[in-house]
Amino acid sequence: MTRIVSLHSYRGGTGKSNLTANLAANIAMRGKRVGIIDTDIQSPGIHILFNLDAAKINRSLNDYLWRRCAIADTAYHLPMPEITAADGAIYLIPSSMNAGEIAKILREGYDVGLLNDGLQELGQHLDLDYLFIDTHPGLNEETLLSIAISDVFVLIIRPDQQDFQGSAVTIEIARKLQVAQLLIIINKAIPAMDFAHLKKTVEDTFDATVAGVFPLSEEMLMLGSRGVFSLRYPDHPWTREVERVASRIVAAAK
Ligand SMILES: Nc1ncnc2c1ncn2[C@@H]1O[C@H](COP(=O)(O)OP(=O)(O)OP(=O)(O)O)[C@@H](O)[C@H]1O
Ligand SMILES: [Mg+2]
Repeated sequence: MTRIVSLHSYRGGTGKSNLTANLAANIAMRGKRVGIIDTDIQSPGIHILFNLDAAKINRSLNDYLWRRCAIADTAYHLPMPEITAADGAIYLIPSSMNAGEIAKILREGYDVGLLNDGLQELGQHLDLDYLFIDTHPGLNEETLLSIAISDVFVLIIRPDQQDFQGSAVTIEIARKLQVAQLLIIINKAIPAMDFAHLKKTVEDTFDATVAGVFPLSEEMLMLGSRGVFSLRYPDHPWTREVERVASRIVAAAK
């Protein structure tokens, strides 16, 4: 059975796409079949981390939402030499990077129910153990859908008051939608901060579990989404945190 894990944040640029790529890659390396779907239709980008050339994307989530093809036809198997475990595999369902197609879907909208059907179908067709959803920031129809259908809902927060206030709203909605498991990740914590104190403050504020605290990393800024950080820097403290959080997600999804 496919476990759906969706990563959200109230505000943009918190690290959703990078964390999705790193967590999904880590779980695939454990011998799991993992899919990633880019539901950030307005500003897609996760394919860049996996080096999937936009010019070579000839089928995207948009085509499925326009009923031009089956959702499984939009999945790209990502060749990742780091996945040495026999059953491990990773697939990406990108959103279109074509300006005209982005404009068309924003103008005309799409059937969110069809997206829901597609997610279920994808899990079955590709025999996925996990399906990660990389979302657009904030709350809209598709983020509400992905919250509602998630087995594990992961909210990313930066240590910033605007993130804190918006996250309270998001968590309230997630609770109303009765998400099975809710985990918080703190990203871009300044290394000089007391991480244990920060974690406790966030846990007390939201009455929820903080699965991990990721430091703001200069190496990560330098990499600038040109790859999956934990694969490039396997011994970095940021990567250790990816491993810990991936284990928390696996446990929460059971
Ligand atoms: N811990 C970190 N340290 C330094 N840079 C980071 C860290 N996490 C993410 N970044 C950088 O922050 C930027 C935004 O990251 P990312 O695209 O993953 O965020 P996002 O939440 O998906 O953004 P959007 O809301 O636009 O989809 C990228 O340049 C990324 O490299
Ligand atoms: Mg993103």
